Amino acid sequence: MPSGIGGAGSPDRRRQAARRRRPHPGEQYLRLVRHTLRRADADGEIAGYAYAGPWRRKPAYSSTVEDSIFIAPAKAGFGIGRLLLTELMATCADAGSRQMIAGIADSDAEASVRLHKSCGFTEAGRLADVRYKHGRWIGTLLMQRALG
Ligand SMILES: CC(C)(COP(=O)(O)OP(=O)(O)OC[C@H]1O[C@@H](n2cnc3c(N)ncnc32)[C@H](O)[C@@H]1OP(=O)(O)O)[C@@H](O)C(=O)NCCC(=O)NCCS
Repeated sequence: MPSGIGGAGSPDRRRQAARRRRPHPGEQYLRLVRHTLRRADADGEIAGYAYAGPWRRKPAYSSTVEDSIFIAPAKAGFGIGRLLLTELMATCADAGSRQMIAGIADSDAEASVRLHKSCGFTEAGRLADVRYKHGRWIGTLLMQRALG
């Protein structure tokens, strides 16, 4: 065997072993979503939900989460979004997350931008034309907030 490739204690072998011990990114995602998922009920119906998942797959980013939130149109504008997002931030901070990212469509998302701003998020950058939806390209506004 050529030296430096595949020896029992070689860096390659150690990296492979570490990778096997680490949970699969999909598993890690589901565990975090299950742990953070919050639902709001109003008038006996589901009014909305919020959850957080890993922002990036690589372990170096494991303290950074991305939020996702949706309120039923009939229940929007009554403060439910702010309640859910505030609770989600507290849950993630308690679980050891340090930063929360929001990736918001850069058009027709005034409510989401206002919600995140009023919860302490600030603009962190813009990505042009990264999603294709309903026949057009849409950019992403990144917003960020430190937790804890
Ligand atoms: C964005 C969303 C979660 C907000 O939830 P909500 O319960 O309506 O928000 P709240 O009532 O708690 O209001 C939070 C802020 O948003 C503002 N807001 C709410 N609806 C708004 C609207 N239609 N247009 C502009 N601003 C709006 C409120 O005025 C408030 O801002 P303020 O604190 O500066 O006064 C909800 O509208 C939604 O689910 N939209 C569709 C999906 C979406 O965009 N998800 C976010 C993806 S990142």
